[in-house]
Amino acid sequence: MSKVLNYINGEWLEGSLKKFVPVVNPANGKVLAEVTQSSDKDVHQAVQAAKNAQKRWRLVPAPERAEILYKVAHLLKERKEVIAQILTSEMGKVIDEGRGEVQEAIDMAYYMAGEGRRLFGQTIPSELRDKFAMSVRVPVGVVGIITPWNFPIAIASWKSLPALVSGNAVVWKPATETPMTAQEFVKIYEEAGLPKGLINLVNGSGSVVGTAMVEHPAIDLISFTGSNEVGKVINGRAGELLKRTSLEMGGKNAITVLEDADLDLAVEGILWGAFGTAGQRCTATSRVIVHQEVKEELEKKLIHRIQTLKLGDGLDETVKIGPVINQAALERIDGYVKIGQKEGAKLLTGGIIVTEKGLDKGNFYAPTIFTDVTPEMRIAKEEIFGPVISILPVKSLEEAIEVNNSVEFGLSSAIYTADVNKAYTAIRDLDTGIVYINAGTTGAEIHLPFGGTKGTGNGHRDSGVAALDVYTEWKAVYVDYSGKLQRAQIDNYESI
Ligand code: UN1
Repeated sequence: MSKVLNYINGEWLEGSLKKFVPVVNPANGKVLAEVTQSSDKDVHQAVQAAKNAQKRWRLVPAPERAEILYKVAHLLKERKEVIAQILTSEMGKVIDEGRGEVQEAIDMAYYMAGEGRRLFGQTIPSELRDKFAMSVRVPVGVVGIITPWNFPIAIASWKSLPALVSGNAVVWKPATETPMTAQEFVKIYEEAGLPKGLINLVNGSGSVVGTAMVEHPAIDLISFTGSNEVGKVINGRAGELLKRTSLEMGGKNAITVLEDADLDLAVEGILWGAFGTAGQRCTATSRVIVHQEVKEELEKKLIHRIQTLKLGDGLDETVKIGPVINQAALERIDGYVKIGQKEGAKLLTGGIIVTEKGLDKGNFYAPTIFTDVTPEMRIAKEEIFGPVISILPVKSLEEAIEVNNSVEFGLSSAIYTADVNKAYTAIRDLDTGIVYINAGTTGAEIHLPFGGTKGTGNGHRDSGVAALDVYTEWKAVYVDYSGKLQRAQIDNYESI
């Protein structure tokens, strides 16, 4: 049985708990590997290594740091297929999406390598003569990243690459379900020549390893993607410790379909957004807000197309929907379907755990559509994180926007319309960090800011140039070359 180990200070080590947890293929229940479990001791060792390594790394010119990132990009590209296969085996998403996810990491590696020759600061006129003012970006120090299983390499790339190019060192706790993908990524960092101690992998549970990271005084920043429940705990404790956090959490994303929309196009967007990654994206389309005039027609088209989506092992190229991550997820999703039924929503299709044709060994949920859902129902408000859509009828664009914005999350939203005026009104008024026009709620590109408003985050963004604001501090620098004392705010206007 292959073993996934920790990577601390350039060495592959067993965690100090001397315990291993199986890594299970969600499509068939087979054990793929075993992953080591760590305690706060391992975290401490990783943090020490990171701290030491960062002292030198921050002094390496950023373009030189970037050269290593270019190598990371090349190696990711070279190994795209191998990593995608591993990712699909341990996480379940269909192989095409697995490849797409690795591509996201490749794109991010090239993009952040490019940042090594930018990392722009500002030059700003001073209010005094013979004085120069500028701002420069400096690394935060040691960055703790905690990543989820649904995007085991993309999200890790969004966090580790900007952190490293900015001169930080990283301690990374990947999700327990997806340590093999994490291991592949770290191997690439190692092969690319990243000096030891700059990336450290610590496997283990959130309650032990995650907590130890949040508590550790030498971790300067926690960058977390995951549930709101855990995010709140991290933020609460980090707040007391005055530790920086960048949090990316839940979504309850909606596609609005107006009466003038191209319905066939909208159907494709809805299916892709709702059932891609089996609905386990924080950007997943969970609600469809439809103008009542086209509701029936849209429903018919959706039900018709849904029959063509084959469920199964994501490694099979003909499969369109893979399994959900584990039994607990399956039960949670099924629980929500029962709640929806009790609340009076109408189940159009799905709503069952699929066990036929050999799928009984995996965790498969039928793509599910509820209609006549109202905004007050729990299935319209809470994140389900599975292949379930709620259709909510409305009478106008204004009502659609109100319904879209009525949830506590604000990650992604989309609208299908042929009317440019309505599209721009929606861009202005949809209260989410990402807005799509005539495309579904998923498919964010790595060079734009990724993140959400309200309960989705805490004002930070992953990816794009905005990510640099997470991993750097601004330093304001004044150089006075007048040779005399100049008093800001006092002497400035006297000399005009
Ligand atoms: C996530 O679900 O946490 O936009 C990330 C998308 C992907 C990333 C999703 N590029 O759906």
